[in-house]
Amino acid sequence: MSTGDLYSTALRSARAGALRAADAGREVSLGGWVHRTRNLGGIVFVDLRDIDGIAQISFGTDWASAEAIAAAASVGVESVVLVSGTVVLRDAATKNPEMGTGDVEVRATALAVVGPAVTPAIPVARGRGEKLAAEELRLKYRYLDLRRADLQANLVLRHRLLQASRRFLTDRGYLELETPILTKPTPEGARDYLVPSRVHPGEFYALPQSPQIYKQLFMICGFDRYFQIARCFRDEDLRADRQPEFTQIDIEASFVEQDDILSMAEGLIGALWLEAGAAAPAVMPRITYADAMDRYGTDRPDLRYGLEISDWTSVFEGIAFNITRSAIDAGGRVRGIVLPGAAAWSRKQVDDVEALAKSAGAGGLLRLKRVGGKLEGPLAKFADGVGAFDAIPDGALALFVAGGDRISSPALDRVRQECATRLGLISEAAQCFVIVTDFPMFDRDPETGALSAVHHPFTAPHAEDVARMPDAPERWRALAYDVVLNGTELGGGSIRTSDPVMQARMFTLLGIGDAEEQDRRFGFLLEALRAGAPPHGGIAFGFDRIVMLLSGAPSLRDVIAFPKTTAARALFEQAPTRVPAEDLAELHLRLGDA
Ligand code: AMO
Repeated sequence: MSTGDLYSTALRSARAGALRAADAGREVSLGGWVHRTRNLGGIVFVDLRDIDGIAQISFGTDWASAEAIAAAASVGVESVVLVSGTVVLRDAATKNPEMGTGDVEVRATALAVVGPAVTPAIPVARGRGEKLAAEELRLKYRYLDLRRADLQANLVLRHRLLQASRRFLTDRGYLELETPILTKPTPEGARDYLVPSRVHPGEFYALPQSPQIYKQLFMICGFDRYFQIARCFRDEDLRADRQPEFTQIDIEASFVEQDDILSMAEGLIGALWLEAGAAAPAVMPRITYADAMDRYGTDRPDLRYGLEISDWTSVFEGIAFNITRSAIDAGGRVRGIVLPGAAAWSRKQVDDVEALAKSAGAGGLLRLKRVGGKLEGPLAKFADGVGAFDAIPDGALALFVAGGDRISSPALDRVRQECATRLGLISEAAQCFVIVTDFPMFDRDPETGALSAVHHPFTAPHAEDVARMPDAPERWRALAYDVVLNGTELGGGSIRTSDPVMQARMFTLLGIGDAEEQDRRFGFLLEALRAGAPPHGGIAFGFDRIVMLLSGAPSLRDVIAFPKTTAARALFEQAPTRVPAEDLAELHLRLGDA
């Protein structure tokens, strides 16, 4: 359907890419980019592109002046032109079902070049599946790459998902409130980006890793329900699903328990999936952290396939095999994955999987397979006749890791993912959501013994764990949860500690015991908590990740207009950059040897 009315301006009456059969007979004026031209002698075709798509514009001797035909024949690709003419139906033979505008063409009488283009530094790919320039080049010439239909579609979807988030949350009484960008460090586990203060020599702002403390302050102030489409900044090692600057749908609510937040979160995800033409379950399965680690070796399990980890310790206890025996004696376990059909893998194939397990910290993988009913491999002579090994069916390969869970979980997680790929068990179309609950409150560094917060220091522990094990904080479970889709963490949150005494105790456990330091770093929060705080909790979704998954894009860079590289550089606008010494001096800074 034509969007001519909405988009009509002084310079054009419609968008070219929106023309349809119903527009036949309309006199239109259009503006757009020259996607390509074809000169067939008597007739010149110009493919005119705008955000809605591409329309075929024809300049024929029967309806266009010689001057217009010459202008069309000589215009360079990517130039911006204004054309005017009549929309006509194409005859059946020339219809193009591949194009939205494929039923029509515009017989043009005039063409004016209003934005001539130099030869583009990279081609603006002409269609799906066409080979793209190297990503580095595409990031450098982002203004050209963003002309591509795929990237434009991603950003249009991003817009729609932002509006759908706002609608969903506004309809439920959440207020969109803004929080500062120049702020104080918030502990979310990454390094801060610091901004020097000119007026306060030697002092720095931090860019927010998240609006965490502010959103809690909103609850303490009585705003009751908050959300923000919040830009967050984290100086951390980057991967395809991480950017130094990213966007969260950040949410907080008062007088809530965990289930209130989780059902709101399910509703929000449902609304976003619907907006993208997909479906998400109204109720997502829940799994505890302990269960997820036990069965999948990770707190963000990909449930599109099985290959669950099982505990073989009791079986190996009865077997005189050195490696497993010493691991068990040292308090470890023997855990493994049974891979149906993998007995046929070559030694090299299994070695490759083992290399991954080793890179994740395991000493190695113990192998046992059943071929023609008989067990084979270095463990076979110990395993023969032990009934438990009947669980390895014919044609299957079992891979075991012996040791502490800290080592075996990440190794088996890696093995599980790799083997699922190799066995072709991952359906790209499947969407398996799961909500992971009951994260541990703290993680203890095995070397230093220091505690760190698994979610963040404002998360509330299970009251019963605190009461039962007051002196074993590393065993406290937190009222913290993550929403996971196909092995990717979409969002995470928690119920917060609203009791100032408990919050101060948390800081102490985290090594911020000194009252003065607590006051310096978090005094404003502790004071506010003492001023009357409601029970509250919330969640934040990684918005870029959601857009990436819903658009099918392989990287966050494909759903962020001006992203950074994995080396945290902006190639197009060229940031970061050096600054003149006098600018540094004004900020009271001097460079070292860099
Ligand atoms: P958390 O640190 O889990 O929680 O972040 C929430 C979600 O943000 C996304 N995310 C990222 N996306 C892109 N690039 C990154 N570098 C990046 N880091 C995180 C993830 C993640 O699930 N304040 C808490 C939330 C709360 O407790 O309410 C927080 O920020 O999808």
